[in-house]
Amino acid sequence: MPTYQIETPEHRYPAIVERGVIRSAAQHLPAKAGKVFVVSTEDVWRHQGPALADALAGRQHEALFLPGGEDQKRLGPIERLAELMVERGGDRSSVVIAFGGGIVNDMAGFLAAIFMRGIPVIQIPTTLLAQVDAAVGGKTGVNLQSGKNLIGSFHPPLAVLIDPAALDTLPEREYRSGLWEIVKAGIIREPALFRYLSDSSAGVLARRPAAVDRIIEDSVRMKAEVVSSDEREGDLRRILNFGHTFGHALEAETGYTRFLHGEAVAWGMRAAVYLGELTGTVEAADAAAMLELVRRYGPIPPVNRISAANLQARLVHDKKTVQGAIHFVLPVRVGEVKVVSGVDEKLVLTAIERALA
Ligand code: GLY
Repeated sequence: MPTYQIETPEHRYPAIVERGVIRSAAQHLPAKAGKVFVVSTEDVWRHQGPALADALAGRQHEALFLPGGEDQKRLGPIERLAELMVERGGDRSSVVIAFGGGIVNDMAGFLAAIFMRGIPVIQIPTTLLAQVDAAVGGKTGVNLQSGKNLIGSFHPPLAVLIDPAALDTLPEREYRSGLWEIVKAGIIREPALFRYLSDSSAGVLARRPAAVDRIIEDSVRMKAEVVSSDEREGDLRRILNFGHTFGHALEAETGYTRFLHGEAVAWGMRAAVYLGELTGTVEAADAAAMLELVRRYGPIPPVNRISAANLQARLVHDKKTVQGAIHFVLPVRVGEVKVVSGVDEKLVLTAIERALA
């Protein structure tokens, strides 16, 4: 059972990658836990709820549903669920289990962070993207109209339970969306994973269990290392935003309805690689290999009728923008990136235009 510890001065919790691990959910509840609220979507609960309900048999629990969809990742549904929790007997001894994709993991985590000033959460991600990124590391939150994840909190979970078998029924588009976060992991810190993704794309795309387990384990190990070294994103954790600065702008520009998060990140990685080339942080051969790997896991849905200038204007609203200075994570070579600010705005616009071309 590969278990990766996230260990910071203040928190310690495991991210466990194991087929069937959902069955162990009750073991991760505190002994004196009160009512357990499983926060999910109706769709996930229909397909995967029975396994979790079996695992929680004997513990007082109830499922509550979020609407699903990035455009619904707002404060309103959180308040509605908090009211329901109070009505249904929730108190400070309650525990939230976040059971779904990245949106559910972020929203349910945030609900736990603020309900009665904070109750514990267990993360059980059911999409590839949530398994390798969203559910690991304690980031929780919701979107504002003006930008992605602009309200939120760090709220580390008691445990992250990652069951690769949960992906067997994941729609193809959702699966590919997660693969781009894994491509990101390869580019920023895992050259061996990058090579594996390049050499074994047939097995990865066919969801062969050995391939799926391998790419999840490498990504979760990497993320556990990074978060353990910098939980609050003061330094090393910023590398995880590779492709996200542009990606978040694209999601906001399209009203959070056209692209899945990983798809926006794929466009964003293209822009970051072109910007790296234009600013000279990365050699052409490495840049070409990165662009090719992003392409390999495509096609990315098209970006018709999106203005590069509008996207550039939106970069200012990103969380990584501090006192007007936009910070870009740019590639150096496969397995290494760096954070750069003060980049010429004309180069940024050119990079976005090339990425979208
Ligand atoms: N998804 C980026 C991070 O967890 O820091």
